[in-house]
Amino acid sequence: MEAKKSKTAEKIFQRVLKNIKPSKAEARETVYNVNKITSRLKEIVPKSVEIMVVGSIARSTNLSGDSDVDIFMLFDRNVSRDALSKKGLEYGKMLVDPKKGESFEIKYAEHPYVRAYFKSGIKADLVPASKVESAESMATSVDRTPMHNEFVNSTITERQRDEVRLLKFLLKAHSIYGAEAKIGGFSGYLCELLIIQFGSLIGFLEWAAKTKMPVVLYPTMKKVMADDLETSKKFSRRFVVIDPVDINRNVAAAVSEESFAKLVLIARSFISKPDISAFYAKGFSSEKTNSMLRKFIGESGLDLLMLEFEIKDKSAEILWPQANKTAYKIEDILEKNGFAINFSISWIEKRNAFILVAMPKQKIGSRLIRGPDVFKTHDTAQFIKKHSAGMGFVIKESTIYSLEKSRYSDAEKIFRDIAKGKVIEKHKDINLKNAKVYVNRIPERHSGKVYSELRTKLNLQGFGGQ
Ligand code: UTP
Ligand code: MN
Repeated sequence: MEAKKSKTAEKIFQRVLKNIKPSKAEARETVYNVNKITSRLKEIVPKSVEIMVVGSIARSTNLSGDSDVDIFMLFDRNVSRDALSKKGLEYGKMLVDPKKGESFEIKYAEHPYVRAYFKSGIKADLVPASKVESAESMATSVDRTPMHNEFVNSTITERQRDEVRLLKFLLKAHSIYGAEAKIGGFSGYLCELLIIQFGSLIGFLEWAAKTKMPVVLYPTMKKVMADDLETSKKFSRRFVVIDPVDINRNVAAAVSEESFAKLVLIARSFISKPDISAFYAKGFSSEKTNSMLRKFIGESGLDLLMLEFEIKDKSAEILWPQANKTAYKIEDILEKNGFAINFSISWIEKRNAFILVAMPKQKIGSRLIRGPDVFKTHDTAQFIKKHSAGMGFVIKESTIYSLEKSRYSDAEKIFRDIAKGKVIEKHKDINLKNAKVYVNRIPERHSGKVYSELRTKLNLQGFGGQ
């Protein structure tokens, strides 16, 4: 980056940091409150269980106002997974005192754990794990976390901790921070590794603006491996970041290609013209979502078809990927029936899931069914016989297609049949029978969420200054 631009960037960073870095007073208060919690917990657990604060609080990479604290209970290695999981829940619950206005809920990750809410405003995850010295002796993935702490704290500089905060905040503004299935973005630990690897936020953005895929990063050696197809294949991902504490783990496993591509666009925008607007996404008025949605439908000329259906009370990490897969399945069915699609979005809200498909208005009379490539197989007779009742065959390049009347002339009919349970079988936790179907008229109660999902999908928050 040129000197002038990097000066501008530096000014922007200092301005943003004023808002997002916890003040000395806030940090002191957090330490005080966290210490109170850990000393209470130490009185509950036996001596052999070590209490450790991990995550962004322990690494000084937390954002101001974020009161989420990660506290681990480390059990001896000879304690079984079942026992540790049971004991962990028990100790977590014992810590919470309803008389003091404290409460808890049970959360599910690798094993269930207690999330406790304190009067100080602190929300603490109390996670049991095994004490391990190396990745080889690891039983569960949370066992790595104390090692992450050690790696980051022994490698990162003070300045870099602030750069991690900036990166997290930047990603949050564009809805790509967090490894949850819902986001498919960058986790806190991944942000730390990226800043360590590239030295600074600008360093990371400069790299991202130009990178190609596949790419494998080794933060320990600060090595970037382009075209490391073998490693890329091993993790079935085109963007891989090897965990410094476990070479068999890709820290970027959750990052979707869409999120990574979005980051690249943000990086290109910022590198070419540093602008504070990259950190503060364009907002919108939540009262006007209904009319904005109507305006979008009118201007785009697209049809918005939406399914709403009930889902079980299960963890979001299980349900989100299922909802996403169902959306792809619906896209596939529409395409097979000859319809063109612009994009689809799926999301979950409490006990309901939504799948929205945006497509050009279209009436379909007939569609092309793809057959074999004439030069790749001798067996073309079968396809021709099977489709002889059609309206003819078309050869494109060297592939043969049959032109046939389509079963569905408009997409709404497919959606209605899906809602009758006809087109897609019930699969795992998804049952589309009795789903509600909406075509362009989105009810007022859903318009806020639909519009905000649409904004994210269409990147209406912008990529930055450009
Ligand atoms: P958090 O999700 O709380 O992340 O996980 P964080 O680093 O504290 O970041 P923020 O500021 O709260 O958003 C706590 C720790 O657990 C491990 C990481 O070491 C992380 O720092 N972890 C968490 C994983 O290894 N994998 C995960 O998927 C989640
Ligand atoms: Mn955390």
